[in-house]
Amino acid sequence: MSDGLIVLVGATGILGRAFAQRLPARRLVKLGRADLDPADPVAIRRRMIGLTPRLVINCAADTDVEGAESAPERAFAVNATLAQALAEGAAETSAAFVHFSSTGCYGDWKSGSYVESDPLRPTTAHHRGKALGEEAVLRAHPEALVLRLGWVFGGIRGQRRNFVWARIQEAQGKAEIGADPRQLGSPTAAADVAAQTIAVLGSHQTGVFNCVGGGAPARRLDYVAAILEAAGSPARANPAEFSRRAPVSSNEAADNARLRACGLDRMPPWRESLAAFVRSQLDETPAECVPAASPQPACADARALCLG
Ligand SMILES: NC(=O)c1ccc[n+]([C@@H]2O[C@H](COP(=O)([O-])OP(=O)(O)OC[C@H]3O[C@@H](n4cnc5c(N)ncnc54)[C@H](OP(=O)(O)O)[C@@H]3O)[C@@H](O)[C@H]2O)c1
Repeated sequence: MSDGLIVLVGATGILGRAFAQRLPARRLVKLGRADLDPADPVAIRRRMIGLTPRLVINCAADTDVEGAESAPERAFAVNATLAQALAEGAAETSAAFVHFSSTGCYGDWKSGSYVESDPLRPTTAHHRGKALGEEAVLRAHPEALVLRLGWVFGGIRGQRRNFVWARIQEAQGKAEIGADPRQLGSPTAAADVAAQTIAVLGSHQTGVFNCVGGGAPARRLDYVAAILEAAGSPARANPAEFSRRAPVSSNEAADNARLRACGLDRMPPWRESLAAFVRSQLDETPAECVPAASPQPACADARALCLG
């Protein structure tokens, strides 16, 4: 597979950083909020056509779940309008397109883990925007790859939305910190998502896949306890009530059913990836440099596409 540019949108975010670490710098064009105005989709498409990339990876999102309840149009602009314009530009230039959605889009109607064939019944403005975003992307670029993610962890120390580092900091000097005992989800390492995405691209599969950390889903309380344990913190995670403006689903757990059915599921158990990530944070080693699992074979095409 020939060389070509890879456009990475949202490279400063938790997930974008994980991709930036993995992809060859010489082929990478990073675009952020200063480069793309969701209010001007024509300019976005023109930008894509000017670059004629081989692959576009859209990690940009408005991830302020609480804020979206009062300003849904702002979230919608990034999560649906921008995503659609990028997908249209990619389709026009015959570039592959990768977009990320959320397992929170399934809603709150099942007790077990959601699979890809389950209907989306989002309960928050944020997740309604994300669900519309996936739909718009697949309409604009029917060959797009859409990965629905769980509770993503990654990034650098102190970075906004670095949940793991924030909990380690919160526990400093305390005997206990509070965490929700009822909310269920699938913790997911950003570094693992980047590796998994590259593997799926190599398989030429398209459409929607759940992509969450392996192992049993966790209550938020157990997730926080696992963070503290991995960090060697003496603090305990205790059940606590959190009042949230956004009616977030109490079950965001998902199963990588389609990845498994395609023989592509390479997501390591989240507890292993979490332990590796916590070590990397404490060592001040960039998280993305710590492989959560050994390199996977069967990625020859993907390497040509992304790493060649
Ligand atoms: N984090 C999670 O737990 C989670 C869960 C499920 C799904 N996801 C999905 O995973 C993907 C990556 O999320 P993340 O956790 O990496 O989010 P993040 O850390 O909040 O990063 C979002 C990125 O989008 C950029 N961005 C925001 N508005 C933009 C605009 N108008 N134009 C261009 N770029 C813009 C941000 O730029 P600035 O640095 O300038 O703000 C940042 O680089 C998203 O699709 C998200 O919905 C995340």
